[in-house]
Amino acid sequence: MADLSTNFIGVSSPNPFWLASAPPTDKEYNVQRAFEAGWGGVVWKTLGAAGSPVVNVNGPRYGAIHGPDRRLLGLNNIELITDRDLEINLEEIARVKRNWPDRAMIVSLMVPCEEEEWKSILARVMETGCDAVELNFGCPHGMSERGMGSAVGQVPDYIEMVARWCKQHSNLPVIVKLTPNITDIRYPARAARKGGADAVSLINTISSIVSVDLDNFAPTPTIDGKGSHGGYCGPAVKPIALNMVAEIARDRETYGLPISGIGGVTTWRDAAEFIALGCGTVQVCTAAMTYGFKVVQEMASGLSEWMDEKGYASIEDFRGKAVRNVTDWQYLNLSYVTKARIDQDLCIECGRCHIACEDTSHQAITAMVDGRRHFEVIDEECVGCNLCVNVCPVEDCITMERIEGTDPRTGKPIPAAYSNWTAHPNNPMRKEAMQFAPEPVTLPEPAE
Ligand SMILES: Cc1cc2nc3c(=O)[nH]c(=O)nc-3n(C[C@H](O)[C@H](O)[C@H](O)COP(=O)(O)O)c2cc1C
Ligand code: SF4
Ligand code: SF4
Repeated sequence: MADLSTNFIGVSSPNPFWLASAPPTDKEYNVQRAFEAGWGGVVWKTLGAAGSPVVNVNGPRYGAIHGPDRRLLGLNNIELITDRDLEINLEEIARVKRNWPDRAMIVSLMVPCEEEEWKSILARVMETGCDAVELNFGCPHGMSERGMGSAVGQVPDYIEMVARWCKQHSNLPVIVKLTPNITDIRYPARAARKGGADAVSLINTISSIVSVDLDNFAPTPTIDGKGSHGGYCGPAVKPIALNMVAEIARDRETYGLPISGIGGVTTWRDAAEFIALGCGTVQVCTAAMTYGFKVVQEMASGLSEWMDEKGYASIEDFRGKAVRNVTDWQYLNLSYVTKARIDQDLCIECGRCHIACEDTSHQAITAMVDGRRHFEVIDEECVGCNLCVNVCPVEDCITMERIEGTDPRTGKPIPAAYSNWTAHPNNPMRKEAMQFAPEPVTLPEPAE
């Protein structure tokens, strides 16, 4: 059976599934049951400075986007960091870590951008025996207006500065949690590395308004007639998270920097995708909030079965395997030509592919042939865009097939060799010789 154990920046856990810093990790009662259910680690709900804790709203703090079957696709929240007393949190963290020595206990922190504040909380946190700290430079609401959270995460110089303080004033591994509310994720990641951070985790939530109530004309969730933007997470954000992870994993200045992947992880497959893009662990919030702590059991068994099937004995056997296949558009192979193929035995003749292709693509699917309803691809028109595959309600009914020889659409021979945009005759900026994608990034050996 596959070995799911991980060693991430020196922190070991029996599996790569950690609960992200959020309500599931807010207290001992929760974390205790999470560990009983099988989670490999937790990032404790973000702690703030000593003194009076923050105060949450007393009305609704969540909004959501649902699929037609009421399945939760995206969750929005306006919750702050922990509103529980620092001393109680620290006591509980120490006790849980003592009782569960084999699980990863990471403590998330957010205090004002002053060295003394960080020094002081780090000293307290180190006493708990936790394994690492995660710096919350991500929350986009409530705390950012106070100069913390994403207000720090949006300024690479601040990230570097605070990461450096944390390395100076503690002996714990430091993970910098990044905000996706930024144009280019590589800059904050580079700053974290420059500041000496051991790893980055991403993504925190995305600034969002999930809906507007059309009776009282206010954003939801609505507190006494008003709403403010919140942080978006759940399955809907996974594509954004994967892209940001890939950007960091393949960037020359950050490659090899350990990454804990977060954002919409709901199934083992999601986790495997993050790991294939280089992540050493994954963190989960919305799936646990939607389905409960036991959701980890399916994640772990699913990942283990898939790894057995593929012959991967450990996480390291496939970690980062997809990084080399992420490239820039200009390096995609223009000699790769495909056409859609419809499996007539599976087709239920709904006509969706025809409408989509007819109205918005290339008029390449028939609706009637010889006076009867029939859906078939016209190779002379098909550009291989794949839209029909995505709108067809029957899985695998339409597939894309690579063709060679002459393209019936252009009437021209398809070059056998790889070619790309850099040297294409239509490219006004073309180079004399074709440019190839930079050498694939090599991930370093896992930490001992
Ligand atoms: C209600 C709620 C509260 C959260 N609180 C925190 C927090 O205190 N600190 C933090 O770093 N992230 C916080 N997050 C963000 C999550 O840790 C995580 O980054 C985000 O939800 C994306 O993961 P997911 O798609 O699995 O939910 C919170 C998320 C939610 C939904
Ligand atoms: S791949 Fe695109 S162009 Fe070809 S049939 Fe499908 S939708 Fe039309
Ligand atoms: S969308 Fe799929 S099922 Fe519907 S007509 Fe086209 S191929 Fe057939």
